[in-house]
Amino acid sequence: MNVLVTGGCGFIGSNLVKYLRRERPDWKIVNLDKLTYAGNLETLADLEGDPRHVFVRGDIANRELVEHLIVQHGIDAVMHLAAESHVDRSILGPEVFIHTNVLGTQQLLEACRARGVKRFLMVSTDEVYGSLGPTGAFTETSPLQPSSPYSASKTSSDLVALAYHHTFKMDVVVTRCSNNYGRYQFPEKLIPLMVVNALHDKPLPVYGDGANVRDWLHVDDHCQGLLVALEKGRAGEVYNIGGGSERRNIEIVKGILGLLKKPESLIQYVADRPGHDRRYAIDPTKIRTELGYQPKHTFEQGLAETVTWYVENRAWWERVTSGAYRQYFDTQYKARLQGRG
Ligand code: NAD
Ligand code: DAU
Repeated sequence: MNVLVTGGCGFIGSNLVKYLRRERPDWKIVNLDKLTYAGNLETLADLEGDPRHVFVRGDIANRELVEHLIVQHGIDAVMHLAAESHVDRSILGPEVFIHTNVLGTQQLLEACRARGVKRFLMVSTDEVYGSLGPTGAFTETSPLQPSSPYSASKTSSDLVALAYHHTFKMDVVVTRCSNNYGRYQFPEKLIPLMVVNALHDKPLPVYGDGANVRDWLHVDDHCQGLLVALEKGRAGEVYNIGGGSERRNIEIVKGILGLLKKPESLIQYVADRPGHDRRYAIDPTKIRTELGYQPKHTFEQGLAETVTWYVENRAWWERVTSGAYRQYFDTQYKARLQGRG
């Protein structure tokens, strides 16, 4: 199998590339990533020189480039993760979310259609369903009611991918996953931000009353779900992926402080996120019964491991917070690319 992974230098993408190298060692992975602020090639430094991982810096919206890669590497399947992924950034500036998530996905689909890619896995999100009340959980047939520019752009790309199946008979599978956590997550998202701030004894900014609920899934369990969906999912179907670990934000923040033995006085309640979704919860029955998927991590064990990882890998996130990680591509590749003329 030759697989094109888009966004393979982001949080989930880099974990997925490593996961696929372990679980499917004979596959070739072509990793197309634009290296936006969220892309960190350093995370994959251990794969340097690995002939089964090919990194290409580029935009998914560059159809010519994508078609070239599909032909050059004989791509069988695409796992599409590249996106602008942070809700708060989409509130500050929605435009790039439309460019990458909507137009970029459409261009990628078009390139795959033109070049006969056999399967397209669209990595979507539970945020397409909007917000829940105190009870119930999202199923694959729940109404789509996105609230932020981020989730609206993801809903658009999710639906465009399904339209390519219905209209052009492309083999498309869509996954909608809940909140991921784990190693290599950019410290703008709740868990790594709180860990990093706590380690610096800086305030931990909790939005609103801290009672918003998310359904947390370890990133390796998400990768397992993506592989199962790629290999066994039925074309044209949507599969929810969830961890069955609903937690209020404040519980998580207090849990992190407890693990780091830091005082709760660091917690600072701040103004709420505009349009903040109150609660997400996933009903994972379909992927469990149809594809035999079962997550492996419990949230408490996974959170403790993740916090330990951030404590032990300070160099990784300090180079992110200082911005030094952005020089890595230039150091590694600029001279080589120039050498190639
Ligand atoms: P991330 O922001 O950490 O990484 C995104 C990656 O995409 C980066 O490496 C970035 O450089 C790359 N990228 C951005 N624009 C690009 C473009 N135009 N062309 C090529 N590459 C580009 O995101 P993440 O948290 O790893 O999320 C990955 C995917 O999973 C996204 O599609 C996201 O919507 C989805 N998702 C994330 C979560 C979560 O909890 N993080 C949950 C469900 C679904
Ligand atoms: O549900 C899946 C989604 O999960 C993905 O599609 C998104 O890409 C991913 O970013 C994530 O979105 P959230 O908005 O849920 O994640 P975030 O980590 O930004 O926030 C989690 C919760 O914590 C949310 O209720 C807002 C709150 N929060 C977040 C930050 C960054 C705070 O209270 N303080 C903060 O500083």
